Amino acid sequence: MKRVLLFVLPILAIIVAGLTILGIVQVRSVRERLMDDLMRKARTVAESTAFSARDILESNNLPEASRLVDSFQRRERTQGCILYDREINVIAVTERIAGWKEPNRSYLKLVLETKTARGDLEQFGEYPVYRYIQPVFGENDNPLGLVEIVYDTSYLYSTLAELWRRISYTLIGLVCLIVLVSFVIERQTYILPLRHLTSWFGRFQKGEADKLTPFSAKGEFGKLVSEVEQVALSLRVARRAVSDEAHARLQMEDIWTETKLRDLVNARLRENSLFVVSNREPYIHTIDEGSGGVKCVRPASGVVTAIDPIMRACGGTWIAHGSGNVDRRFVNSKRKLGVPPGDDRYILKRVWLTKEEEDGYYYGFSNEGLWPLCHITHTRPIFRENDWRMYEKVNRIFAESVLEELPVRNPFVFIQDYHFTLLPRMIKERRPDATVALFWHIPWPNPEVFAICPYRHEILDGMLACDLIGFHVQFHCNNFLDTVNRLLEARVDMERFSIVRGEKETFIHAFPISIDGHFGENAPAPDIRQVERIRTEHHLEGKIVAVGVDRVDYTKGIIERILAIDRFLEKYPDYRKRFVFIQIGAPSRTHIKRYHDFAAEVDELIQRKNWKYSDETWQPIIYLNRNLPPEEIRSYYEVGDLCIVSSLHDGMNLVAKEYVASKRGADAMLILSQFTGASRELTDAVLINPYSIEEFADAIKYAIEMPTAEKRRRMKNMHTIVEENNVYRWAANTITELTAMKKGAISSE
Ligand code: F6P
Repeated sequence: MKRVLLFVLPILAIIVAGLTILGIVQVRSVRERLMDDLMRKARTVAESTAFSARDILESNNLPEASRLVDSFQRRERTQGCILYDREINVIAVTERIAGWKEPNRSYLKLVLETKTARGDLEQFGEYPVYRYIQPVFGENDNPLGLVEIVYDTSYLYSTLAELWRRISYTLIGLVCLIVLVSFVIERQTYILPLRHLTSWFGRFQKGEADKLTPFSAKGEFGKLVSEVEQVALSLRVARRAVSDEAHARLQMEDIWTETKLRDLVNARLRENSLFVVSNREPYIHTIDEGSGGVKCVRPASGVVTAIDPIMRACGGTWIAHGSGNVDRRFVNSKRKLGVPPGDDRYILKRVWLTKEEEDGYYYGFSNEGLWPLCHITHTRPIFRENDWRMYEKVNRIFAESVLEELPVRNPFVFIQDYHFTLLPRMIKERRPDATVALFWHIPWPNPEVFAICPYRHEILDGMLACDLIGFHVQFHCNNFLDTVNRLLEARVDMERFSIVRGEKETFIHAFPISIDGHFGENAPAPDIRQVERIRTEHHLEGKIVAVGVDRVDYTKGIIERILAIDRFLEKYPDYRKRFVFIQIGAPSRTHIKRYHDFAAEVDELIQRKNWKYSDETWQPIIYLNRNLPPEEIRSYYEVGDLCIVSSLHDGMNLVAKEYVASKRGADAMLILSQFTGASRELTDAVLINPYSIEEFADAIKYAIEMPTAEKRRRMKNMHTIVEENNVYRWAANTITELTAMKKGAISSE
């Protein structure tokens, strides 16, 4: 409507101005005509009255004079008549106007002297009138007096007012008609075709329409339709070509690379068919506290480390919570943006949540309830009914956001983690044809532990709508199968590793997640200048350097690590002044009291231990309590002779794999908690029980003193394992498994 008005307003202004001028001209001409008429009538009446008045004035017959003027009393338009003698004295006046103000005598005198009749418009009280004064002549043209005829002109004004009214009504009617007609024309010729074209193209993008546009158009709009059709056709052809090439290449290569994974996705799924859902978004736009400018940060998150390379390789859409304080500035009208910023390899769709929703769903139920429930760290889970309601609500919000994106064919929704246990069921209820997989990035506890959750049935029911549920290790799969066996009525098939409930079978498989690593020729060279800066800044020259990289989380065993370093320095004083430990700790979930207290505890402990050992030239622990970009973390790995991963319980732990990958078989060593998923694969690491401080301290010494050849051999072995089992293999295994089990539903075309 706004656009119609914008278009129509100038036209209307011109029409209104034109009609107004025409109206004025017409009113003027009507007025002139009426005045002419009036004057003519007045003159005729005045002349005939003057004729009758002549005898009356000559004989000074006053009764006759009264009769003459009284005859005007009954006339409709003439208000009255006044008879004057030659001294301009009123001899007789019609009663109707007798009380009116005395006429202007000088004016009357002039008429008498010039012997010329005259008419004029005047206002007598509330009456608009026309006065016509006619001299009365006697013998020899001697003036005997005057006759004044007074006409009522109000009819003239009401006629003109009526005319204006009609012109205005016509104008208003015309304006309404023009707006209406313009609106109908715009709707028929512009809005409707454009709406059809947009909806067709939207459906085409989702794979719901792959024919020509279902309507024909001519003119400029027709050209646009034809251009859109060409784009659609090229896209369709490109998709087919990509899919065929991918099929061909897949047969040839046998190492899992970015390209090979892209081929697999193109061959098995279709372009635009991959949808990832996670709570944490891979790119966050925030205000930089230092410069006040906007920056785009990559969060410290295992999910992001693993999934971002896959999405970069395959494209698709990643739907996540938009948690950055300036995230809204960078999305389009559909809350989407291309990422990585400036590279646009895939689409990030941001979901907005209110503070209340984020509190209940993320901080509350997910991280004060499920997180401690699944990690054995002796932190009591907290379950609040309100948090659960918010968790349900946010799962529903994400479901709607996912559902509006899904194409008609082959959608593959890959959900990440414990934030979305209800989401699979919500998606499947509306799109039973969609393939839904959930990857659980944290441990799954045993049935006794899980059973304390008041919402255990709802959670399991939501998850079992999936076609596939993945865990990092078989142990967690077994725990899950046991849990379902104990808590639900379902058939657990221990041979196929699946759960059957009613018609639905869900496969439970282990897929150890990994990193992209950039191995071999693709390995990024360390940033020598940054490495040197780090060495100088922290006085690391000639020192044995150990590094730890974690979110500041009570599951990561940071306290135990500091205690073990303390014990190591206590027990082996030779290493004082020779050993430095750098802890990079990204702040995490700080609104939760347990995390807030834990961060303070770490701070305090590090300060206490540094106080215990430091002198003016050496401090054993350097604590960098901030989020560092991946390139800088790589530089810290470069300076680290050791990496310490001491989680009390961890689904996988990708820091361990990143360190091994970055060292490329060098003279270095990884100390790794036996309670991480990574310890199942990286068996050449120095494995520790982080709760046993004594053993942990000895392990540090053991790792430092291990012969160089032994270190190289072990690091090389682990490097090969990480290289072979990279994240592309992880994704390929998941997708291959899914496509194999849903062969009927997912066609490779
Ligand atoms: O690894 C478990 C996990 O929750 C991941 O989902 C996430 O990448 C990581 O911890 C970081 O947690 P958050 O996203 O809550 O900061």
